[in-house]
Amino acid sequence: MGVSDMLPLANAMMARAYAPYSKFHVGAVVRGSNGKLYGGCNVENAAYPIGNCAEASAISAMVADGETRIVEVLVMGEGEELISPCGGCRQRLREFAADDVPVHLCDPNGVRRTVTLGELLPLSFGPSHLGK
Ligand code: THU
Repeated sequence: MGVSDMLPLANAMMARAYAPYSKFHVGAVVRGSNGKLYGGCNVENAAYPIGNCAEASAISAMVADGETRIVEVLVMGEGEELISPCGGCRQRLREFAADDVPVHLCDPNGVRRTVTLGELLPLSFGPSHLGK
């Protein structure tokens, strides 16, 4: 694993973000256990609450391809402040990723910090609670 293949895809995803309302472009990339990369961008809507986060888009692309295990995550956004997945997306990632999965928090120039999903969402509720 390594981010060198993930960064260009995240940059491309950021460029395709549909964010006319917030103007905050986000790109996300997940690596499946099959080794493939899946990218997504945020897709906003005039009815604000139904917009999609970039992470949700990347997860959808992965599941549509038949993969359901995430082994690495990268999220990219602009700005002074370090980007980090929203609460809802932490839980979305948790469905398909273990606590020790690295989450790279990036700006367009590269990785600023790497954390684990368990650090972002401690004591999480997941599929095992439902016997899955
Ligand atoms: N956004 C993401 O796509 N991912 C995140 O982790 C944080 C927020 C998007 C949602 C919305 O389109 C814009 O960023 C501003 O909140």
